[in-house]
Amino acid sequence: MKMAIFASGRGSNAEAIIEASKAGLLEAEVSFIICDKPGAKVNERALKKEIPVYECVPRNFDSKQQYEEQIIRHLREAEIDFIVLAGYMRLVGPTLLKAFEGKIVNIHPSLLPSFPGLDAIGQALDAGVKVTGVTIHYVDEGMDTGPIIAQKAIRIENGETRQSLTRKIQAVEHQLYPQTLQMICEQKRMEGEYHG
Ligand code: GRF
Repeated sequence: MKMAIFASGRGSNAEAIIEASKAGLLEAEVSFIICDKPGAKVNERALKKEIPVYECVPRNFDSKQQYEEQIIRHLREAEIDFIVLAGYMRLVGPTLLKAFEGKIVNIHPSLLPSFPGLDAIGQALDAGVKVTGVTIHYVDEGMDTGPIIAQKAIRIENGETRQSLTRKIQAVEHQLYPQTLQMICEQKRMEGEYHG
């Protein structure tokens, strides 16, 4: 299975997935990263791991449709089977959704359907909940609304800070995302969709 990772920022999940793939823990190849923010940290991280980065910046296109069509050309050229969103700070539009129907997954730092959208960690702290977590889900047209694939709960301790909770969430994400992607690969292989 050939994957492309979409990322806008730090890229710590992208790095964890690339490492799992290189270590053979994830039987899929990360072909390249699509990054919509020039200069984002993910660029540096990917290049260190010798994974190419395509910068596709929406403001350089007349419409979201044209932006996504350009991305689809890259994906088709490289025969990408699956799209992994990892801190991609933008809603996927109908053009890309239709081209890769059922083949786009996302990770979100809360137990969805609680706390969708921006700053899920801050939302959980503000709400005073005692448990939050991480969700991996298929992507649909909504904001963090697609079918849930995997979740892991994380306890919020008394005196928990944004920094400490972020650290805990990220540690879980870096395990759960590669493991879940591997599970998807195995499933697809059993269904006979991919042979690699
Ligand atoms: C992660 O917390 C992920 O759940 C959310 O955005 C963050 C990306 O972090 N969608 P990183 O760029 O992978 O470090």
